[in-house]
Amino acid sequence: MRKRFLPVLLLLLTPLRLWAWGVDGHRAIGKIAENHLSRHAKKEIQKLLGTETLPLVSTWPDEIRFYPEFKDTAPWHYVNTASGLNHDQYVQQLKAQTTPNAYNVLIKQLETLKDTHKTQAERLAALKFVVHIVGDVHQPLHAGHAEDKGGNDIKLKYRGKDTNLHSLWDSGLLDYQGLTYSEIAGQYEPQLRGRQVKTWQKATPEQWLWESYQASEQIYGDVPANGDVDYKYYPAHSELMKQRIEQAGVRLAAILNETLK
Ligand code: ADE
Ligand code: ZN
Ligand code: ZN
Repeated sequence: MRKRFLPVLLLLLTPLRLWAWGVDGHRAIGKIAENHLSRHAKKEIQKLLGTETLPLVSTWPDEIRFYPEFKDTAPWHYVNTASGLNHDQYVQQLKAQTTPNAYNVLIKQLETLKDTHKTQAERLAALKFVVHIVGDVHQPLHAGHAEDKGGNDIKLKYRGKDTNLHSLWDSGLLDYQGLTYSEIAGQYEPQLRGRQVKTWQKATPEQWLWESYQASEQIYGDVPANGDVDYKYYPAHSELMKQRIEQAGVRLAAILNETLK
């Protein structure tokens, strides 16, 4: 085989590594958010999006991250910290990180989205990142440990296939249901009660990440010793997964309502 075909072949053989909630998780979050937007925010968002929708643009940051001109955005999807931190230590570590991460980039992108002196293109890109990152930081393993790359290095077997802890939580568990994103949003959403939505929406990005971090500590602790994720894992964890997706959706709406008011 000629040498220059080798990289192409290797690329084709490499399984696509997903780095965030899978496509359906992100889109379900966008869909839930749509249902909680104010009239004004909806109008502003539509001006930026044109014919696109929040669910459809929610995965854009995952689509571009592999291209050279966007390679700097790779760390924008997660915040890793040490294990065993209490709340104050966690928030302190979160705020002390100066290299770009999901937390400090989210704050920057919200500022760009709010700034009407920026170009439409800049504000549109910021909107897409906000939609995506609010989703990512609700995936517990996007607030995990650096030493195992948020669970990417913890190898597991699930339903007869090789996977890892991170991927299980990005998409493996959610795909288990075999639903479309509209079906996921449609199944989760009607059970949301007004009072609970309001309480969730009051939380700050620091709190969202602290919740993810705490959930990740539990998930790390629940890794099956033999690496085999059995049939009891899904029922034991589906409620947590559902709650993180619902929370991401209603909080995304709240932060967009506030930023675009
Ligand atoms: N790479 C390194 N840490 C990661 C994390 N927490 N999530 C996704 N990708 C990562
Ligand atoms: Zn992501
Ligand atoms: Zn991920």
